[in-house]
Amino acid sequence: MKTGQTHLFIPGPTNIPEPVRQAMNVPMQDMRAPDFGDLTLGLFADLKRVFRTETGQVFLFPGSGTGAWEAAITNTLNPGDKVLMARFGQFSHLWVEMAQRLGLDVEVVDVPWGAGCPVKEFSRRLGADKHGQIKAVFVTHNETATGVTSDVAGVRRALDECMHDALLFVDGVSSIASIDFRMDDWGVDLAVTGSQKGLMLPAGLGILAVSEKAMEASKAATMRRAYFEFSDMVNLNATGYFPYTPPTQLFHGLRRSLDRIFAEGLDNVIARHHRLAEGVRRGVQAWGLHLVAESPAFYSDTVSAIRVPRDVDAREVIRIGYERYNISFGTGLAQLAGKVFRIGHLGDLNEGMCLTALSLAELSLAAAGAKVEFGAGVAAAQDWYAENAPAARMNIAAE
Ligand SMILES: Cc1ncc(COP(=O)(O)O)c(C=O)c1O
Repeated sequence: MKTGQTHLFIPGPTNIPEPVRQAMNVPMQDMRAPDFGDLTLGLFADLKRVFRTETGQVFLFPGSGTGAWEAAITNTLNPGDKVLMARFGQFSHLWVEMAQRLGLDVEVVDVPWGAGCPVKEFSRRLGADKHGQIKAVFVTHNETATGVTSDVAGVRRALDECMHDALLFVDGVSSIASIDFRMDDWGVDLAVTGSQKGLMLPAGLGILAVSEKAMEASKAATMRRAYFEFSDMVNLNATGYFPYTPPTQLFHGLRRSLDRIFAEGLDNVIARHHRLAEGVRRGVQAWGLHLVAESPAFYSDTVSAIRVPRDVDAREVIRIGYERYNISFGTGLAQLAGKVFRIGHLGDLNEGMCLTALSLAELSLAAAGAKVEFGAGVAAAQDWYAENAPAARMNIAAE
């Protein structure tokens, strides 16, 4: 029998704020009613603010991040097109695999897990592509498996310096609404996310923002698609409707989560993620453990992947945390299985929650055989949080 609170520290799905959960507890409604657009049109407009795009077109597909990956590819590319991708963790690996399965000619750059998108190597390959064979460049902005954030702006610069016309695809599933992301400034053509991470909702929405250039490409793209066809969506979305039954409860939740993000301020949300993440990193350092991310430039503000000592099985740390202490940590994926556990620190989170995660990680690590001094990680994080207290807490008492 589990008592008390269950602590969710996987990097998505994330904690759903109680007001968001309540906002979804509404009766079913008519998705063809004359006033349905009152709910949906505002969501499109406000998501554009989250993606930081003025001219992009937002799509809300019932689905998940993986569906949004597929929608991005099938709407804008042709079978056999050459694309440039890097593989540096389980999610970038899966995107490569999908691109291959969909019939693209994928030029893969393999990078050791712990590093991020190889901007210099991308630049070299783009520069060598004199005949514009590469039709798209893909970047996993935040590799959730390794806790690595990549330099999307740098990839845009590389494209511009080579005067290369390829589309820029970005997986922002574990970055958008929590790590700085700027679709227009960075010239991103297709940005992908899901509902269950920074947007603090259940899984169920695959969300895309698509540039004018990519919308234009979609008119000529010959890859087969049906459910994810952009043009079917565009026609009906213009007045707030959908070509199929939309998940209205999720839309009500999204309305409330967007309201919360803007009440706090998107910049403040991003700053809070950085502040909280840095506290967790200080804790890890105080344990004498290392992140998978190989240098500070790659540190992710939404997830920390932590290497356990060689003689400890990270699966045990996770099992003990779950069974004894009511906490879920993220597991080590693929080549990191058993070597790594992850602390997800994104979404509806504060200092107290991060300190709880660190303190229960200490108990779990020790029980799994690691030598950690109780309180060391917690104290290091406390020092950081004390020095970097937020100016004022957001007031959302009105909820
Ligand atoms: C970076 C990244 N991309 C893609 C996905 C896949 O998204 P979904 O599980 O919503 O299909 C995930 C899921 O965790 C992810 O972290």
